Amino acid sequence: MQRSPAEGYQQASLSEQKVDGEDFIQTDVCPKAGDVILDLGCGTGELSAHLAELVGPEGMVTGVDPDKERIQLAKETHSQIENLSFVEGSAINFPGIGAKVYDIIFSNYALHWMTNKQQVFKNIPAEGYQQASLSGQKVDGEDFIQTDVYPKAGDVILDLGCGTGELSAYLAQLVGPEGKVTGVDPDKERIQLAKEAHSQIENLSFVEGSAINFPGIGAEVYDIIFSNYALHWMTNKQQVFKNMFDSLKVGGKVAVQYMSYLPLFDYNAYVLLNPENAERIFRLFHFESKTKMECYCLSAGFDEIIRSFDTHCKGLVFETVQEFLEWQWSTTCGLFDPSLATEERLKKYLGPYTDEDGKLSLDFRGTKHEKVTVCRLLAVKKDKEHL
Ligand SMILES: C[S@@+](CC[C@H](N)C(=O)[O-])C[C@H]1O[C@@H](n2cnc3c(N)ncnc32)[C@H](O)[C@@H]1O
Repeated sequence: MQRSPAEGYQQASLSEQKVDGEDFIQTDVCPKAGDVILDLGCGTGELSAHLAELVGPEGMVTGVDPDKERIQLAKETHSQIENLSFVEGSAINFPGIGAKVYDIIFSNYALHWMTNKQQVFKNIPAEGYQQASLSGQKVDGEDFIQTDVYPKAGDVILDLGCGTGELSAYLAQLVGPEGKVTGVDPDKERIQLAKEAHSQIENLSFVEGSAINFPGIGAEVYDIIFSNYALHWMTNKQQVFKNMFDSLKVGGKVAVQYMSYLPLFDYNAYVLLNPENAERIFRLFHFESKTKMECYCLSAGFDEIIRSFDTHCKGLVFETVQEFLEWQWSTTCGLFDPSLATEERLKKYLGPYTDEDGKLSLDFRGTKHEKVTVCRLLAVKKDKEHL
């Protein structure tokens, strides 16, 4: 009877990779009892089983491999080992990714099969966000800046909820050497990445902080307070608008782009692909209507709203399912777990986005499927004495 390639691999690996892997484990890795280990690129799982034995019943080993047949064989062969599980996945999509749950991430003869090794080593949601936001939030943010915000040379700008700082860098370029931009975000890892990526820009700085704790708060120092896709992450928006008002110079303006609702494609992704995490993901967001946002703005002291309107998202298009899943993972700071998006769940989720010929289109820019909209609000702080 003919063997499948996976079965052939299972046999062949016993005398090659397994010998070297065991030697590596014994002489260099030295796992301890109780360790939680990920075996990345586990193949048919012989070394994962060996690791499971070494960490004992208090420990746990998860073997991950993108090869369906190898994972199937691994499951069949080692089903009796209680502290061992196998999951179809990859170096950018494995259980516990970004969640700091492993004592050891072990990988034997697998790294040279993987592309984008920088991502593999650093696999943290902030890094994914930095990549993913380039085609999404950054496109919409740049459009907002160009068509509505109009920063001038010399302006002093706060970018509130700056993420990994791509738009702060763009603003710094627009205000020139006489101007200054400060990017603020509560996500330590995103701020760290922003600092590393843009360290050469002299008129730009990044600070870990939030909408209730940022440099210059209450001190009337900014010409513009800009915020892109961040307001719907913030609670107590009345206070946020008050803080922005108090921190703007007289004549300064607030320019915010935010979501007033959770788009259907996101809602369904959480409910259908990640039901285990959906409730926790929903709690990340604090959507409020455009009318309410305008009320907060006026109550905070802004006398005049220059513009407040809905517009279509321009950056929401994904080339592949993998790209879409990674985007969900990174924008939810690692809460959305791509490994829970099983084939069966994906089939149900992707149904509405697949045409009769089986062609998939994950394009939410308002051309197909639902038309996802985003709100823009611009208001000026006037000099009360000259009203
Ligand atoms: C979707 S990201 C947008 C990032 C960036 N503005 C962009 O356009 O790429 C939303 C950001 O808001 C930040 N955020 C969440 N709560 C915040 C708060 N209370 N104050 C300031 N920023 C906050 C998050 O950490 C996250 O980086």
